[in-house]
Amino acid sequence: MSTICVVGGGGYVGLGYAVALARLGNQVIGLDIDAERVAMLNAGNTPLYEDGLESLLADGLLAGNLRFTTSYDDALADAEFVFLCTGTPSLSDGEADLRQVRAAARAIGERLPTGRRVIVVNKSTMPVGAAEMVAMVVGANAPHGADFRVVSNPEFLREGMVVHDILHPDRVVLGGDDPDATAAVAALYAPLGAPVIQTDHRSAELIKYAANAFLATKISFINDIARLCERLGADVTVVAEGMGRDPRIGPRFLHAGIGFGGSCFPKDVGALTRMAEGAGLHPGLLRAVLEINADARRRFVTRADALLNGLEGRTVAVLGLAFKEGTDDLRESPAISVIDMLEERGATIRAHDPRAMANAARKLSHLVLCDDAYHAAEGADAVMLCTPWPEYRSLDLPRLRAAMRGDLLMDGRNLLDPVNAVDAGLRYEGIGRATKESGSIPAPLAR
Ligand SMILES: NC(=O)c1ccc[n+]([C@@H]2O[C@H](COP(=O)([O-])OP(=O)(O)OC[C@H]3O[C@@H](n4cnc5c(N)ncnc54)[C@H](O)[C@@H]3O)[C@@H](O)[C@H]2O)c1
Repeated sequence: MSTICVVGGGGYVGLGYAVALARLGNQVIGLDIDAERVAMLNAGNTPLYEDGLESLLADGLLAGNLRFTTSYDDALADAEFVFLCTGTPSLSDGEADLRQVRAAARAIGERLPTGRRVIVVNKSTMPVGAAEMVAMVVGANAPHGADFRVVSNPEFLREGMVVHDILHPDRVVLGGDDPDATAAVAALYAPLGAPVIQTDHRSAELIKYAANAFLATKISFINDIARLCERLGADVTVVAEGMGRDPRIGPRFLHAGIGFGGSCFPKDVGALTRMAEGAGLHPGLLRAVLEINADARRRFVTRADALLNGLEGRTVAVLGLAFKEGTDDLRESPAISVIDMLEERGATIRAHDPRAMANAARKLSHLVLCDDAYHAAEGADAVMLCTPWPEYRSLDLPRLRAAMRGDLLMDGRNLLDPVNAVDAGLRYEGIGRATKESGSIPAPLAR
């Protein structure tokens, strides 16, 4: 059993690790500067929705090996490991904003004890070279004789699956230059039985960015194919299925739609692009990934505008606000971009999300927030499905249609069956699901 401080312990990654490390039998203190979150957590309430989080939190609090604090002095008093899980959001030019990391590193350095070693574990996604920066900031603020090491340990969890993914990792990546320190971190993960990839700091840091950029590329790739399907009269859902059955390609991340969002893909592709530019390269592929992604949302709104003969004065029901299903996280959500563009064009929005309503009430209070999809559809000229929540798959489409004023159903995630929608009296528009009639014959064949 180890004593572990999780810095940023009120966030998605930090809270997931706090409860999971406690579950593995460690003594864990979650540290966060957000006093409201800390109070909630100590009372057994999670500030964010993730399956399984609340029960593990309750277990840890009850067992007495998990608690939360806002005090660095308290959290670092006995810590052998410090998991650094603060946010690394984007600056406006795409570069990673490392201010939270620097502030935490300073505070950690100031409280390092002398006479025993502390291992700082970098969990936050940080640009290549950041481990050296963290070591420098911790060291510059540490008392004389403090003994610490930094290990890079990027995180690959998916929001919506935080607890599951932490307890069942595909791999554990550990970067560092001190074999004893990396071995000590590997020992924390040993009960999970995952393969461990040991490498240097920079390779570990780049693995995280390269992995996210690759997944984002897959999404933008299929969205590019979807645009082509619309022009040529093909159905991208079938094209993706036919591609995805090839085990070299695989079916995941091949769902055409209004693009990726969330707190990771856009910022990590942006940061990798900036890293490549900073290294004197021209990251054409990464730029295209971001451009196609932005275009996917824009095209969705432009199409609504055309199909409704203008959005001014129209009422649109938006189904799904979270950036993806299974989470209440609204950060960089494609749904929010779509709403912003609809509103700019004069539409009024009625919105529903199965899990993100509390967040929406705080951050999107100007919208008409509705208890369910049918309530949202009341009097709407169009329904626009933006997040692929499984519950939307079984919507009662005749009931939805009956609640609406208009008949347009725009399925931004290709979640619904077009035939059922048409049978319910709806005008169905998916992404990349052209009919033969709407496609044009490529020029060389037409001649
Ligand atoms: N969310 C994901 O799916 C995911 C997946 C993999 C990696 N990551 C990476 O993990 C990191 C954290 O992401 P997140 O989504 O958990 O962020 P988050 O914003 O949910 O959590 C960050 C937490 O850190 C706290 N914090 C900020 N400054 C602090 C400080 N100086 N001292 C103590 N606490 C402080 C905040 O109050 C917040 O609770 C990011 O680098 C992100 O890129 C996130």
